[in-house]
Parts: sequence; structure tokens; C-alpha cells
Amino acid sequence: MDIQLEIRDLTVAIDEVEILHGINLTVPKGEVHAIMGPNGSGKSTLSQAIFGHPKYAITGGSINFKGQDIVALAPDKRANLGLFLAFQSPNAVPGVKISTFLKQAVNARRRATDPDAKVLKIREYRELLEGTMDTLHMKREFADRYLNDGFSGGEKKKSEILQMAVLNPDIAVVDEIDSGLDVDALRVVAAGINTLREQNQMGVLIITHYPRILKYIEPDAVHIMMDGNIVNSGDKSLAHKIEEQGYDWLRA
Ligand SMILES: Nc1ncnc2c1ncn2[C@@H]1O[C@H](COP(=O)(O)OP(=O)(O)O)[C@@H](O)[C@H]1O
Ligand SMILES: [Mg+2]
Repeated sequence: MDIQLEIRDLTVAIDEVEILHGINLTVPKGEVHAIMGPNGSGKSTLSQAIFGHPKYAITGGSINFKGQDIVALAPDKRANLGLFLAFQSPNAVPGVKISTFLKQAVNARRRATDPDAKVLKIREYRELLEGTMDTLHMKREFADRYLNDGFSGGEKKKSEILQMAVLNPDIAVVDEIDSGLDVDALRVVAAGINTLREQNQMGVLIITHYPRILKYIEPDAVHIMMDGNIVNSGDKSLAHKIEEQGYDWLRA
């Protein structure tokens, strides 16, 4: 089994208050793992710690990604290794088209993987972008829109899925992507993630309060977080149980 993300005994503090108390999590290549739990249980703290947000201090344990401890790496270095944190993207960027923004991101990732990599030629990049958009059933005009400028909630997610697709990460961490999405937008997002999972063997860590998204993106494993600990793990039936019974039965 090819393990890509391995978190061991991870403790994380915000402003010197310990929020995560020793998380263990193993995600093999291409698997989809869901982290569920009530509000305030520490789910977003885990996603921010994986991505290296400076406010989230790692006080113990390790985060190993593709055989390398990434705890000391800056967020952009983690991204260049093939980690993608979805749906935290910046606000509107005046005058920057999606296609331009993505080109810079793709070239940065290529250089990080191979210092000798040449900047993609215009035609090579066009082919990559258009091929990716076709795979995701997106209209090509979408790439000519200015990034996040006047985007609806659904369009924002769509641009993030496109970003995810061209960057082709090994693992995407998606934190509460379904909040505020109508069913149609949720379907587009889920279809994009499922395509990348099937075609590129992308692994996914889906962080969610509600089981709804897991009807569209079927997890290989489900982990329940309560008060900064993973208290239960199982297969997708665990998500069904949460849907029916909530979280109370897990409280000590
Ligand atoms: N920026 C912050 N400053 C101080 N406390 C925080 C901050 N972010 C989260 N917390 C606290 O950490 C705990 C876990 O929060 P969070 O990881 O956001 O939970 P979840 O994503 O599961 O709802 C909560 O008790 C919350 O109040
Ligand atoms: Mg959260």
C-alpha cells in the first residue's frame, strides 16, 4: 500500500491553547477520507495545520507527505509537493484572468518538481487548460473571466475545481465545500472531484459537518472528530449512521 499522507500523534495549538490532542490519520494513494464532526471539534484546525497556516502551531507529532516530514515547510512548498487546500482562495484579483492566474500556478509547480523545467509555451499551456476544461465539461470562455470578480458561489467553486485540476495534486483537502452551495453547484463540484479521483488517482480529505456531500463523493473511510480527537473510524456506513443519529451517541 502506497501511503501518501501519514499524520502521527499530532498536537496543534492556537494562541497556546491546545486544540488537537494527538491525531493519527493515514491516507493511502488515491483514497478519499472524510473527517466529520460537530462544529468546533477541530476539523478546520486540522486542515490548516496540514497546510501550514502560521496561526496553527504544531506542538508535537508529525505530518508526513510522500515520505517527507512537511511540518517545517512553508505553505507554498507544501503546495508545490502536491498538496492542495481547496476553497480558501483569495478575493477578486482585479484584471487577472483565470487562465493567467492558473498559468503562473502551473509553472510554479513545474519548477518545484523539476528545477530545469521550462516555462510552458503558450500553445502547450492552452492544450493543458483546454483539455482539462473539456474533461470537467466546462465552457472554455470561463477561463477568460477575471478571477473571482463578480463570481457566484457556484462559479467560485468551479474556478477552484479548475485550479485543482490543472495543478493535479496528489491530495486535495476540501474543508466544508458544500456550505452555501445549492444542489446543482454541489453536483458540479463533486463531479469534478470524482473525475480527478478516477483519472489522476487524486486522494481527497473531505472535511465536513454534514453528511450531504458524501452522497456525491463516496469516501473509502470516515473518521469522526470530537473535541480535538479522532474518536471513531469506519467505512461509509459511519456517515449514514451520523446522518440518522447525529453525533450525540459518540459523546463520552
Ligand atoms: N483562530 C482561532 N483563534 C482561537 N481559537 C480558535 C481559532 N480557530 C478555532 N479556534 C477554536 O478551536 C476549536 C476548533 O475549531 P475548528 O477547528 O474551527 O472546528 P471545526 O472546523 O470542527 O468547526 C474551537 O474551540 C474554536 O473555538
Ligand atoms: Mg471548520
